Amino acid sequence: MCGIIGYVGEKEALPILLDGLRRLEYRGYDSAGVAVAGKKGVKTARAIGKVAVLASRCERKTLSGMAGIGHTRWATHGKPATRNTHPHTDCTKSFFIAHNGIIENHEELRTELTKKRHIFKSETDSEIIAHLIEEEYRDAQNLEKAVQFALLRLRGTYGLAVMPNVLPGKIIAARMGAPIAIGLGEGENFVASDAVPLLPHTRTVLYLEDGEMAVVTAKGHAVRTLQNKLVTRGAEMIEWSADNTQKGGFPHFTLKEIREGPEVVRNTLRGRLIMENGLANLGGLQNITQSLHNAKRIIIVGCGTALHAARVGEYMIEEYAGIPVEVESASEFRYRKPVLDKETLVIAISQSGETADTLEAVREAKRKGTMTLGVTNAVGSSIARETDAGIYNHAGPEVSVLSTKAYISQLVVLVLLTMHLGRERQMSLSAGKRIAKELEELPKKIEKIFAQEKEIKKLAKKYAKYEHLLYLGRKYNFATAFEGALKVKEASYIHAEGCGAGEMKHGFIALIDKNFPTIAITPETSVYDKMLSNIQEIKARGGRVLAVATEGDRRIMRLADDALYIPKTLEMLSPILAVVPLQLFAYYLTLERRLDPDRPRNLAKSVTVE
Ligand code: F6R
Repeated sequence: MCGIIGYVGEKEALPILLDGLRRLEYRGYDSAGVAVAGKKGVKTARAIGKVAVLASRCERKTLSGMAGIGHTRWATHGKPATRNTHPHTDCTKSFFIAHNGIIENHEELRTELTKKRHIFKSETDSEIIAHLIEEEYRDAQNLEKAVQFALLRLRGTYGLAVMPNVLPGKIIAARMGAPIAIGLGEGENFVASDAVPLLPHTRTVLYLEDGEMAVVTAKGHAVRTLQNKLVTRGAEMIEWSADNTQKGGFPHFTLKEIREGPEVVRNTLRGRLIMENGLANLGGLQNITQSLHNAKRIIIVGCGTALHAARVGEYMIEEYAGIPVEVESASEFRYRKPVLDKETLVIAISQSGETADTLEAVREAKRKGTMTLGVTNAVGSSIARETDAGIYNHAGPEVSVLSTKAYISQLVVLVLLTMHLGRERQMSLSAGKRIAKELEELPKKIEKIFAQEKEIKKLAKKYAKYEHLLYLGRKYNFATAFEGALKVKEASYIHAEGCGAGEMKHGFIALIDKNFPTIAITPETSVYDKMLSNIQEIKARGGRVLAVATEGDRRIMRLADDALYIPKTLEMLSPILAVVPLQLFAYYLTLERRLDPDRPRNLAKSVTVE
């Protein structure tokens, strides 16, 4: 959700803040603002829309200073408008705040503060934080204490940066349920909602835990809990480089990240396959070797694309490791009363490692004494830190709001996990070796799919006129149907539905006509003939079909109106290939509709609020 950047050091803050906000734009692009502390006090600039609009409004002379905070907004309370744009301040303009999260008791606090004659300028829940600090400062006359007391009154979630006018050169950051990273530099320090905007400056990052507050100056930082206990946790080194977060010559991050697929597979596999034994070596599982050995049941949780990956994982683990698996959306799991025990393993899949519902699902499992395993891409993220063990995706930073390369890496991780669990149970050496060999072939096979990019573009031109698309898949590609549809909905705003092919006759088929084409995911697998029957049924009702099929499949050529091809691979790996043309198809449909795939409306990359 919203992005936060803060800087204190010896350089002009404004260019650093604007660059940080540009890199954070994937977290929200409803509006953006900065506050810079200079010789004449704190000055602000705010604008609706993209950071570029804000940048064009920022006068360097007025906004000169060596400390500042910035915010890019994904609106929750109050529509996108200048008055609702952060940084917000109090009545005396002494405290400027940038907030990510939701303050649940904002109405009662607003009523209380209004009675004390505070005047609110926005409709946001966030603004009350500045007024609360003002109120507490009046009594405490101490910035840290005022912030601490104000925070203790909040219910809800926050990742917060507070910059005072009264004591320039200091930023206070705090976290409760929404991530905050402190970037440590030489003679300068940073605060941010994630590590990405810090990468051009430093890769040494300290993540705050819930209920912690950091006082950050140019010379150092000090972390305490809200109960005033000193925290001495060390910083971490981030592997990602700033180059990974640039478009690198591509018109959009979305296309760049789809094209990174082959490299991502290589990176996810690197050092993890023991070919001769058909084994996967996953260092992050060492802590829980015995518990994994004893696991009798697995529950995989995630949201959106991660949930689709979970579904593929379910099929793989059940087929090859023989462990019962359930898949559940994290947002449901956390609120119902799941029956958990010591022989259950909860796997949380999350690219960002910060999705609020997935993180809460992990906490719910831990409260019940259940072992947790995180599959995350962001090193040091909350889910990576809070789970008992983890497997990193190593996909590099994913900037596009559409999750593409992370999905591929999640599937590869799940294959590795299946091998790990399977080989000590029912999976034979030859099956392990076969999977390992096929995994190594995947990068080349994804490259082959890219060779059809022109054809995909042409098909996108043809299909962009439709308002509805049905995505149909079975067994391992059941999830591919949902994932393909999700990509199209998110970016092109075409109404697309995923459907298990066997379910089609139970309702969906009523929608089929010449205006409702079907994308049928039909590689040569154990359910190929069933898929062909479904395609026949659609054709018999006047529906158009675009098939994703295996190279050289002549039957599909005769049956479908259009086809895209993927190389042959093992059935369990087919979702990794089948999703690639669908990602490209969604990208080009979006361009055909003259939309920006990197900034779909209403979406933000990391859903850190419920
Ligand atoms: C889809 C997409 C979202 C995310 C979901 C979970 O393209 O990006 O559906 O997959 O918000 O995010 P993570 O994986 O960060 O938990």
